Order: sequence, then C-alpha cells, then structure tokens
Amino acid sequence: MPPTSAEDDIVTAVPDIMLNNGATIPQFGFGVFQIDPKDTFEAVATALQAGYRHVDTAEMYGNEREVGQAIAKSGLGRGDVFVTSKLGNTAHRPDDARRAFDGTLEAIGSDYVDLFLIHWPLPTRYDGDYVSTWRTLEEFYRDGRARSIGVSNFQPHHLRRLHTETEIPPAVNQIEVHPYFTQDEVRAFCGEHQIAVEAWSPIAQGAVLDDPTIVSIARAVGKTPAQVVLRWHIERGDIIFPKSVTPARIRENIDIFDFELSGEDVEAISALNRNERTGPDPDTFAPIPASS
Ligand SMILES: NC(=O)c1ccc[n+]([C@@H]2O[C@H](COP(=O)([O-])OP(=O)(O)OC[C@H]3O[C@@H](n4cnc5c(N)ncnc54)[C@H](OP(=O)(O)O)[C@@H]3O)[C@@H](O)[C@H]2O)c1
Repeated sequence: MPPTSAEDDIVTAVPDIMLNNGATIPQFGFGVFQIDPKDTFEAVATALQAGYRHVDTAEMYGNEREVGQAIAKSGLGRGDVFVTSKLGNTAHRPDDARRAFDGTLEAIGSDYVDLFLIHWPLPTRYDGDYVSTWRTLEEFYRDGRARSIGVSNFQPHHLRRLHTETEIPPAVNQIEVHPYFTQDEVRAFCGEHQIAVEAWSPIAQGAVLDDPTIVSIARAVGKTPAQVVLRWHIERGDIIFPKSVTPARIRENIDIFDFELSGEDVEAISALNRNERTGPDPDTFAPIPASS
C-alpha cells in the first residue's frame, strides 16, 4: 500500500547516518528482540506503516523469517528498508558462520542484508578467537551479501584486536546504552575510530521511564518520558531501534522528530548514569556449552 503523506513526513524526518564505508543507515528503526515469531509479522507491519524503515533482528531472536515476510508484504521495495541481522553464538567458527549466514538470508528471503553483526564477542569461548569470525564476515562484505558488517557488545580491547589483526573495520558497534548506562568509554573509543554506535535497550526496557528527571523534562517539553529518552539518544548521535508490540507505543516512539532537547536537558539526562547494565557483561557472557 502506498504511504500516506503523514508517513512520508516521518520517513523523511528520520536522519541518515553515514557509516565508515560510505553506506547510510536510518538513525532510527525497530527492534524485534523478545517479539514472539507469531507476533512479529504484525508488529513489523505496524512499524513500517508508521514510517519505520530500519529493522534490527538476529538469528537468536528466532523471528528473521517473519521480519522478511512483513517487509515483502508491506508494498515497500526491499531497498526501502534497512535490515540488520546478527550471527548466533553457536556459529562463530568460520564454516558454521558461513552456514548461519546462508540461513539468515534464506529466512529473511533476500540475497543480502544491509548490516550483519557478530552478536557477542564470547571472549571465553572458541579459544577467544572472534578474529577469525570477523574475517568470515569480511567475506560476506566482499561478496556483497552483507552491505556493511559490524559487531555487537565489543569492548575497546576487543575492537583493538580487530583493528590490528584484520583488514575491514567494523562499521558499527551495537552496545547497551541508556540514561543509567551511558557507556562513555566505549562510545568515545568508537567515535575516535569512526565506528558508529548503536544503542540497544535505549529505554532500558522501560526502567528509566519513571525517573523524576526524565518525567520532569517530559512535562516541560510536552512529550512522553519514552520520547524524551529516545530523543536524547538521537541528539547524542547514536542509532536506536526501540522495541514494542503495542501499536500506540510503536507510533509514539517514532514521533520524536518534531522537537529538540536543550543542551542542558541532554546533560541532565546523561548525568543520571549509574554504570548499571540491564544485560550481560560482554567480557564474561558465555551462554553456550564449553564444548561447542
Ligand atoms: N545486540 C544485543 O545484544 C541486543 C540486546 C538487547 C536488545 N537489542 C536490540 O535493541 C532493541 C531494543 O532493545 P530492547 O528490546 O531490549 O528494549 P527497549 O527498546 O529499551 O524496551 C522495550 C520494552 O519497553 C516497552 N516500551 C516500548 N516503548 C514504550 C513506550 N513508549 N512506553 C512505555 N514502554 C515502552 C516495550 O513494551 P511492549 O513491547 O509491551 O510495548 C518493551 O517491554 C531490541 O529489540 C534489539 O533489536 C540488541
């Protein structure tokens, strides 16, 4: 179905970020972590209808197929939607990664992804060898089936190894970032090395929305706490893709391109940092059996 003019306005309002390989990515998109496969088609269809043109999925989310189906049935062209997926934790060895990437493309129903990431570095697994995994992603980039490649949950010391031991720098690093976990050190490292930051759990899965500072800024600017936090990320320059299965929230979350926060408000929200993760620590996260 053709978009309405209101959707056109949203689509054009979402800024593009240029990655270090010259490709562009919409700074705002839709995340599908923890969306049941049976609900994914509907959620992605609602997001595309609301003007989202970027979807972040992963092999481990189990819903790549439904993401692809929603895009295929949306009336939009494949080239109109930026699609990211990620390599599962059981597939770091090169041959497994090649098979897994074929499976991702088959599930999405496309001959390419816009961005493919190593989901976790798993430094205590695979003899700590995420370098040969990265070299396998370089193959997917060179053969054109991954338009950009990147990493997720990489700390500066992991990134340094890629920098010295491999050829293609990651285009992005997708990490946990929200007002209670501002990730100053990793963001600064990425900034110095032209690696774009993608902020996962941008509203800390809702945990920051009752914060009095955020609630008070929201009242002052006439927006919801979620919109204020999402706008804070946009003004810091990070790429975000909040998740929701609730149609009203899906529309609320993208409605952040008609206002700005003052520098003071951005600072006040950044000052809420508690260095408090909601997710696992990438240096110790090792969710697969030691034998694999
Ligand atoms: N690379 C990684 O390791 C990694 C890890 C985690 C996440 N991610 C990516 O980042 C995306 C976003 O992170 P996330 O899903 O963890 O968390 P999130 O987007 O920060 O929060 C999602 C939660 O907040 C609720 N919510 C959404 N919009 C809301 C609003 N306007 N008001 C109140 N509540 C709202 C949702 O509820 P309802 O759905 O019930 O509406 C859901 O429970 C993921 O979907 C995934 O694509 C990546």
